[in-house]
Amino acid sequence: MSDRVNRVVLIGTGFVGSSYAFALLNQGVTEELVLIDLNVEKSEGDAMDLNHGLPFAPFRTKIWFGDYSDCKKADIVVLTAGANQKPGETRLDLVEKNTKIFQTIVTNVMENGFNGIFLIATNPVDILSYAVWKFSGLPKERVIGSGTILDTARLRYLLGNYFNVDTRNVHAYIIGEHGDTELPVWSHANIAGISIRDWINNKEQYKKEDLEEIFLNVRDAAYHIIERKGATYYGIAMGLVRLTKAILHNEHSVLTVSTYLDGEYDQKDVFIGVPAIVARGGIHEIVKLDINEEEKAKFHHSVSVLKKTMDSIDW
Ligand code: 2OP
Repeated sequence: MSDRVNRVVLIGTGFVGSSYAFALLNQGVTEELVLIDLNVEKSEGDAMDLNHGLPFAPFRTKIWFGDYSDCKKADIVVLTAGANQKPGETRLDLVEKNTKIFQTIVTNVMENGFNGIFLIATNPVDILSYAVWKFSGLPKERVIGSGTILDTARLRYLLGNYFNVDTRNVHAYIIGEHGDTELPVWSHANIAGISIRDWINNKEQYKKEDLEEIFLNVRDAAYHIIERKGATYYGIAMGLVRLTKAILHNEHSVLTVSTYLDGEYDQKDVFIGVPAIVARGGIHEIVKLDINEEEKAKFHHSVSVLKKTMDSIDW
């Protein structure tokens, strides 16, 4: 490892933010982690609590409760602040409230000389990623939303269970809005190089209809969890750690993130979930899957729903 000290600033230490901090510490990803939140006492307490876990961590991370001036030297600013979904609410219902909150936060970060990569998890994540790009003036490669990283993980987990294969050998993507209009890319889904279609056709116990049910469970997972425990946080927190690692360790990993499309997938001027190569500079390249006509139509619909919601924002 070089002498360079990696610094992550986390803004928002609610359920998602503090789960992220905990997972980051446990995986030993960064040398410095700064916590910022309006709730000063809670964040100070989090910093103390996390520091007490250091003797058990795989790597030394310096953690402190900080302020916006800490953003100047940050490699990544992670945004998990804002309101979250209540039972019955969609992610898009949060748009106005969270766009306003983000305008203040991003302005503060930029005024303090930040010149790194924004990672956004707050919902509606695709629209807020667009907002961060707009408010920050940073190049599009350096604004990354968690997009469908968690939906893809949910799909891989459920397919792995269904076919009884390690979820890490499942290659399947959810693309589109991180929300109700997302879609599975069945045309490219495979396990160990064998298409999902062949897995289904080759064995009697597997049925095509079950795939639809698996997808519905992915799409509606957050609703099911929120009904039960009021919020989701562990899965998304681990997804954010995965992204942080891909950036800080220059991994060139393919992850489904919300990124700016400029003609890819025949779409423009929108942040939406697609597979992309993530590395030290942020988005290295968008992976252009040759999706079929049905998938194209669904993707197009997803883009139009996001754009319609964006049109309603008073920027
Ligand atoms: C999730 O999908 C609520 O967006 C959050 O778990």
